[in-house]
Amino acid sequence: MDPKNTHPDSIAAQALGWIDEETGAITPPIHVSTTYLRDADNQYRSGRIYARADNPAFDQAEAVINALEHGHQALLFASGMAAATAVFQALAPGDHVLAPKVMYWSLRNWLMSFATHWGLDVELIDMTDPGVVQAALRPGKTRLVWIETPANPLWTVTDIALTAQMSHAAGALLAVDSTVATPLLTRPLTLGADIVMHAATKYLNGHSDLIAGALVTRQDNDHWQRVRKVRAQVGGTLGSFEAWLLLRGMRTLHLRVRAACASAQRIAEHFQAHPLVAEILYPGLPGCAGHEVARLQMQGGFGGMLSLRTRGGEAAAIAVAAHTGLWKRATSLGGVESLIEHRASVEGPGTPAPPDLLRLSVGIEHVDDLIADLEQALTAAHGVRS
Ligand SMILES: Cc1ncc(COP(=O)(O)O)c(C=O)c1O
Repeated sequence: MDPKNTHPDSIAAQALGWIDEETGAITPPIHVSTTYLRDADNQYRSGRIYARADNPAFDQAEAVINALEHGHQALLFASGMAAATAVFQALAPGDHVLAPKVMYWSLRNWLMSFATHWGLDVELIDMTDPGVVQAALRPGKTRLVWIETPANPLWTVTDIALTAQMSHAAGALLAVDSTVATPLLTRPLTLGADIVMHAATKYLNGHSDLIAGALVTRQDNDHWQRVRKVRAQVGGTLGSFEAWLLLRGMRTLHLRVRAACASAQRIAEHFQAHPLVAEILYPGLPGCAGHEVARLQMQGGFGGMLSLRTRGGEAAAIAVAAHTGLWKRATSLGGVESLIEHRASVEGPGTPAPPDLLRLSVGIEHVDDLIADLEQALTAAHGVRS
């Protein structure tokens, strides 16, 4: 299968069409060995020595993710956080890094505590404003620009191509957390980004049953070689069974993402003028900031994530979540089941999430059932309060 000339649907469904050479099996075996035989002349011609660094269980899933992203090489990690932090751990003390104020909160916390403690000069800025990015870049000093688009939990959109141009002009690499966009909707490497990161825990796997992360690079370079060493030496490696499960999950990526996008768009449109809703944050709504950029860099949908700001403040928001039935009150995103959460409660002090904000991860249930459940929860929550 030639990945460049094959639709992502076919790449995903057939996991690149690989067949196990030995048995003809269409589904790969799970390799669990931690160590590999050395040749009699003391060489390792298999290219594999020890499973912290080399694991054949990763090969197919990495190849599929790489093909979907049109990259040079992909690496699996034990979690999205292990993947993301490897990008920063591969930098040197004193390096200047730009990251967004609105981003996945746990990575923001890690950057502002551990990364700064280890000597990285981390600056959080508004990544959606190219003027702010340009002014913050320090040519020759800024080594990495990290963006997330659409970004948790306000679903702000950053122009990848423009940010790549500005970063490269200043001598910096651009890394993109594309977890929410998925390779179905946006391929950051083709827009000039250097590294794409996925919390594969989310849409890539899609079934809320494993934690995994992935990085894909546009080209080999010194930084990527250090990222490889971070994985091998720090040891944030995925388990063999999880790699196999991830491959299985990815076979339906295109179906799940399209269903989630279509339903999220319907839900956003349904509730945007609702009397009990103050605001819907979703890049698929023409009125939302970022819609124009999203239209250019997202193909086939605007993602399955949106946020709903309730009328009545924090208490009303928490009450709405409490009254949902089909929507499950849980954190995380990108699974087949729809999730709802009061985001400020999760993120705590310093969160950019307003107190009345509910984060919605739209799954693949029937959209009419999802809308009906939210309608009754909004009504019940406001009835209880009055
Ligand atoms: C956008 C985004 N990036 C990164 C992560 C971290 O991934 P993981 O939970 O697999 O470590 C998450 C997890 O919620 C996320 O939503």
